[in-house]
Amino acid sequence: MTSTPTSSPVDVFETGDEHEQVVFANDPASGLRAIIAIHSTALGPALGGTRFYPYSSTADAVRDVLNLSRGMSYKAALAGLDLGGGKAVIIGDPATAKSEALLRAYGRFVQSLHGRYYTACDVGTYSADMDHIARECDYVTGRTVAHGGAGDSSVLTAYGVFQGMRAAAEAVWGQPTLAGRTVGVAGVGKVGHHLVRHLVEDGAEVVVTDVHRPAVERVVAEHPGVRAVADTDALVTSRLDVYAPCALGGALTDEVVETLSAVIVCGAANNQLAHPGVEKQLEEREILYAPDYCVNSGGLIQVADELQGFSFERAHQRASGIFETTRSVFAAARRDQVPPAVAADRLAEGRMRDVGRLRGIWLDR
Ligand SMILES: NC(=O)c1ccc[n+]([C@@H]2O[C@H](COP(=O)([O-])OP(=O)(O)OC[C@H]3O[C@@H](n4cnc5c(N)ncnc54)[C@H](O)[C@@H]3O)[C@@H](O)[C@H]2O)c1
Repeated sequence: MTSTPTSSPVDVFETGDEHEQVVFANDPASGLRAIIAIHSTALGPALGGTRFYPYSSTADAVRDVLNLSRGMSYKAALAGLDLGGGKAVIIGDPATAKSEALLRAYGRFVQSLHGRYYTACDVGTYSADMDHIARECDYVTGRTVAHGGAGDSSVLTAYGVFQGMRAAAEAVWGQPTLAGRTVGVAGVGKVGHHLVRHLVEDGAEVVVTDVHRPAVERVVAEHPGVRAVADTDALVTSRLDVYAPCALGGALTDEVVETLSAVIVCGAANNQLAHPGVEKQLEEREILYAPDYCVNSGGLIQVADELQGFSFERAHQRASGIFETTRSVFAAARRDQVPPAVAADRLAEGRMRDVGRLRGIWLDR
């Protein structure tokens, strides 16, 4: 699941041939241009965030929303949720284009899908934006705590990544702990800085980097034992036991895999494999890759819980299950002699098929 933005035209039926529905929403007065993609509702209503981003072309936006919504189906399926996969993009610079009118116009379009798609936060959208959308729409999650929402999903995303990393540590070193290991975290934003706390508490040595200097300063001030390095290149070439990409997608390029000293890769970033085939390269170098959507589903679990009336304890309990899920992915990979990324896809597809099929048993409700 990688994205390759280009400005060449895109045939939505061809690129999105697995998708159920793609909706274009246009409201010239507020400047809203949005695309909602529903990949699958085999397991339940499609849930996925709204990305607000200045795409350079509509084609780039279409490609991104198709790719991201497909990823959500797999993430929800592997996390054991009764949810399908969807995602939305709003084309524009959130710093200048976002307004109450635009968000509420968007909410009315989401409402028009009558619950086939639930929205949430993503890059460029925040819980306060979801509160605006919820004024027009019943199918919103990730609202602020003051409005009965789950709030910032990065808390359980980081916790889930930590659980996945413990499972990877167990697979490689026999014990589910990072104590005494050196972990490099690239990107200490919302998720990365919570992950650092879990790692420090577990007794790991942590090395961080971020392009945003204040983010690094905050982490180092909170945890004096944490070291910072200049950039991601310096991080991946330093001596590491675990590499945790927590910034943008595409972190695992051929060059990175070639130079990495870490024996585990486990981080929060979506779409870490820069292109299909990198998972095999990782395996050849005997680097255990914990699939991104397996370990970063804690945030989805958190916002999905809001649909039942948010309970942090219940969501936290469920996110603890990422340890077992990651274990079962590694076990399936060993059994079938495939990379963990392939094993995760097969488990997710199996659940969509086996549980999704049950809807074929007719019930009067
Ligand atoms: N927030 C969630 O609940 C959640 C859930 C699932 C997946 N993710 C993914 O996890 C990643 C991090 O999410 P976040 O919410 O912490 O985002 P964020 O924007 O708060 O943090 C990302 C950090 O990465 C830094 N960064 C950007 N480019 C960098 C680079 N080249 N080198 C080093 N640092 C760089 C940024 O300065 C920022 O501090 C994203 O890929 C996101 O899609 C987040």
